[in-house]
Amino acid sequence: MLELLPLSLLALVAHAVEHFIAVGGGDGAAEFNPQWLDNVDVDDFVTFNFTTLGHSVVQTSLTLPCVFISDDGAPDLHGFASPLSAAAGTTFSIQVTNISAPIFFACGTDTHCQNGAVGGINAVEFSSSVTDAAKTSVSRGFADVPSNGTALGSGVLSRVVTSPSLASSGPSRLSPGAFVGIAIVALLLLIGAALVLRHWMVVTRVRRAHKRTEWKRRLEKRLSQVHAATDAAKPAGGAEDVPRM
Ligand SMILES: *[C@@H]1O[C@H](CO)[C@@H](O)[C@H](O)[C@H]1NC(C)=O
Ligand SMILES: *[C@@H]1O[C@H](CO)[C@@H](O)[C@H](O)[C@H]1NC(C)=O
Ligand SMILES: *[C@@H]1O[C@H](CO)[C@@H](O)[C@H](O)[C@H]1NC(C)=O
Repeated sequence: MLELLPLSLLALVAHAVEHFIAVGGGDGAAEFNPQWLDNVDVDDFVTFNFTTLGHSVVQTSLTLPCVFISDDGAPDLHGFASPLSAAAGTTFSIQVTNISAPIFFACGTDTHCQNGAVGGINAVEFSSSVTDAAKTSVSRGFADVPSNGTALGSGVLSRVVTSPSLASSGPSRLSPGAFVGIAIVALLLLIGAALVLRHWMVVTRVRRAHKRTEWKRRLEKRLSQVHAATDAAKPAGGAEDVPRM
């Protein structure tokens, strides 16, 4: 039971799912595979794997699919962006923090977006309209993207993370379900400990009882030996007790 504990705890705590999107493509536009992710939940991670050099992932919007998103109402809140020409073999991860609206992204390199390098999270129903809008989009929509990507934590409805495993730590991120699960595991542990203690007490009691019987048996044996010796020392017929005449 004890050796099972870390696994069950991990399963309860690590409820977030990591989704992967390969970013590749040769000389032409980048290709996102898969292009549209569905059923992504709050706290889930999306990791982009760059399989070929010279592409990027930049957060965009439904109405302007080839323009870097920035929230004018909150100057510090900007869309996420990977380095503009990410090296092959590197990854870029975001964590989804809010699923009240879809998240859109595109390749910010050259005219890859206009050539169809767009994608989305929980945005499948917008796939054709976004792809159509991208074809006629402005071509300088990514001028504001920092060449080495945006800082950790940036993103609208999401945040850039270093690595999904590091980002998922921290008890404050536990869902109510995880708390219930941990409570159940703790209860099972208590029951297990109680059973072990009870078993130990029963075994101890049996051992003690056994020792006591053994000790009693020896005492009785010794007593009967003493009696036997006393009887043998007496003259036959109990003559000592008979007064002499
Ligand atoms: C993306 O990369 C990660 C880590 O390098 C790997 O675990 C995962 O299988 C890759 N997924 C895809 C779809 O390439
Ligand atoms: C999610 O985003 C919407 C609008 O973007 C906002 O109204 C809502 O408060 C956000 N929810 C959370 C839990 O932050
Ligand atoms: C990001 O790029 C700028 C120049 O474009 C450079 O000055 C800066 O050192 C780079 N930062 C990192 C962390 O690479």
